[in-house]
Amino acid sequence: MRIDILSLFPEMFTGVLETSILKKASEKGAVSYKVTDFREYADNKHKTVDDYPYGGGAGMVLKPQPIFDAVTTMTSKNETKTKPRVILMCPQGERYTQKKAEELATEDHLIFICGHYEGYDERIREHIVTDEISIGDYVLTGGELASMVVLDSVVRLLPDVLGKAASHEQDSFSTGLLEHPHYTRPADFRGMKVPDVLLSGNHAYIEEWRTKEALRRTFRRRPDLLEGYSLNEQQMEWLSE
Ligand code: ADE
Repeated sequence: MRIDILSLFPEMFTGVLETSILKKASEKGAVSYKVTDFREYADNKHKTVDDYPYGGGAGMVLKPQPIFDAVTTMTSKNETKTKPRVILMCPQGERYTQKKAEELATEDHLIFICGHYEGYDERIREHIVTDEISIGDYVLTGGELASMVVLDSVVRLLPDVLGKAASHEQDSFSTGLLEHPHYTRPADFRGMKVPDVLLSGNHAYIEEWRTKEALRRTFRRRPDLLEGYSLNEQQMEWLSE
C-alpha cells in the first residue's frame, strides 16, 4: 500500500511513521509513506494555500488549486494505476470505525488531506475527495493527528505486518465484541488473584470463560455493539448472572 499525506505541517509525522509497527511495516515493504507539504503546489509567488471566505466571516479557507494539483500528481505517480481513496479528515465526516479500517486496508493507495485551522473550499469535497472521516465528536486543531489514527489502524491490518503473536483477528471490534480480560504472572499479586479457570490448563473451559467475559464486558460497557447480535440461550444466561 502506498500512503500519501498532504499537510502544511509535515514535521508532525516525523517520529510517528518512524517508530514501532508503522516503521517495521515500511521496512518490510508492506507500505510506503510520503508526507508532502502542499504549499509546494501553490501556483502563486507567495505560496499561499488559503484565502478569505466568499461572503465574509471569520477564518480562512483552503484554496482548491494546491490540493487539486497535489492529488493529480500523486495519482499519476501511482504505479498500480488504481484509483486512490482520497480521504479528507474533518469533524463533519463519517465516524471512523474498525469496519472502515478493514475496508481501507484492502486499497492500494490512500491519500490523506489534512487541514489545520482552516476550512476547505467545497469544490475539494465535491470533486476529489472520496471519503470524509471524523475520528470522533470533538474538534482537533487539524486533521494531522486524526490521519495518524486512521493510518495506524489501517497499516496494522496489512498482511504480514503484525506477527502471529500480535494477530489482529482477536481485536476488540474485529470479533464484534470487546476483548476479554488478560492476566499474566504472578498468579497472586498482593492478594489480587488470577481467576482459577485460567490456571486450570483446561483449554475448553478457558475459551468458554473468555467468550463469556468478552460478552459481559461488551454488555456492560458498550451495549450498542450488541444491537443486531443474536444471543443464544447460553449467552443470555451469562448476561443474567
Ligand atoms: N479535524 C479536526 N477535528 C477532527 C476530527 N474530530 N476528526 C477528523 N479530523 C478532524
